[in-house]
Amino acid sequence: MKTFVIILAAGKGERMNAGRNKVLLPVCGKTVIRRSIEAFSSFADEMIIVSRDDERSLIMHETENTGLSFPVRFVTGGETRQQSVLNALLTLSWNHGDIVLIHDAARCLADHELISRVIHSTVLYGSTVPGIPASSTYKICDQDRFVTDTPERSSLYEIQTPQGFPAETIIPASIRAAEDHVICTDDAGILEHYHFPVKIIDGDSSNIKLTEPEDLNRAKMILEGGVSSPMRVGMGYDVHRLVAGRKLILCGVEIPFELGLLGHSDADVALHALMDAMLGACALGDIGRHFPDTDEQFKDVSSMVLLRETIRIISSAGFEVHNADITIVAQKPKILPYISEMIRQVAAELSLPENHVNIKATTTEMLGFEGRLEGISAYAVCTVSEMK
Ligand code: CTP
Ligand code: MG
Repeated sequence: MKTFVIILAAGKGERMNAGRNKVLLPVCGKTVIRRSIEAFSSFADEMIIVSRDDERSLIMHETENTGLSFPVRFVTGGETRQQSVLNALLTLSWNHGDIVLIHDAARCLADHELISRVIHSTVLYGSTVPGIPASSTYKICDQDRFVTDTPERSSLYEIQTPQGFPAETIIPASIRAAEDHVICTDDAGILEHYHFPVKIIDGDSSNIKLTEPEDLNRAKMILEGGVSSPMRVGMGYDVHRLVAGRKLILCGVEIPFELGLLGHSDADVALHALMDAMLGACALGDIGRHFPDTDEQFKDVSSMVLLRETIRIISSAGFEVHNADITIVAQKPKILPYISEMIRQVAAELSLPENHVNIKATTTEMLGFEGRLEGISAYAVCTVSEMK
């Protein structure tokens, strides 16, 4: 008997709003996809990771140093989760008695105990899904939101993955479902549609699916055993002179203007303030110490590159950023039209959902050096905590 493990990672993670696929976000210093892969390290004979082609190399990188003792293959995902599963199932060379575990990479807290119970039940009863008994009352309603029914609560379960199936059941049924245009939101649904039995076993309330930004904090709390490490706050401040003949780049975004900021690097004053806040929160000095302006390698360098390096410095010291707030002080030009793109870029670089990053701009009512268009300043604060 062989156990195939299918890990689904070909979604876009749109509801997480992090500017990248949520499975590539870190939780307590390790990416979601790496956690999901490692969870199955002692259970698989073969692993199939379903990913989008443009993310394959990033995800492949997350399989490195996992110490897996079985082959890992990559399969291209489809438009829907159901199509992604089918793409993987069609590649299996299976025999009678083999089992298939299908798991959402987004449930990166599935533990060994849960996985071994799913396997055990699949061998014993056939198709198996873990579920949590409903604790609330659920109602079914029509399109106008008038209630049509209240199902008996004791018969309702919230279903999780991994789901376990005999290969000889799930593969033909999934092919048939595609031919019959049957659409299901989970894999067991296909078997139910064709009247195969599906067993529910106890799920695990810690096995949450990372869907919305708040779920990252929930996952972190669970991993830290309910005791989160203390928050630290850092602040940064920077000023650069406005001159003719230079580009104006703020938070990685080039803004058309007749003046630009003067500096050794691209003089992105807002990112410099942010990096100082990050280093400050970790008691790691300031950017002048890490990126001296006497060093030729930093000449005209994009501050986004320096930000990436700052993230590396603080994470190797064991810290991760939770949120950041930046204020840009500029009399001109108008910054507002560029703010959403700035937030997108900074959040993506910090691997944070966009609602954990705030960027705002203010004038000084023509007062001071900013008001006289001699320079632009920026302030930043951020919170960090130690990764456990
Ligand atoms: N998934 C997939 N192929 C798809 C859609 C989803 O492999 N076409 C995977 C996701 O990567 C995820 C799991 O299925 O691990 C559960 O889906 P969901 O939580 O909805 O993730 P996303 O589709 O990525 O998120 P969103 O719906 O917010 O865009
Ligand atoms: Mg989805």
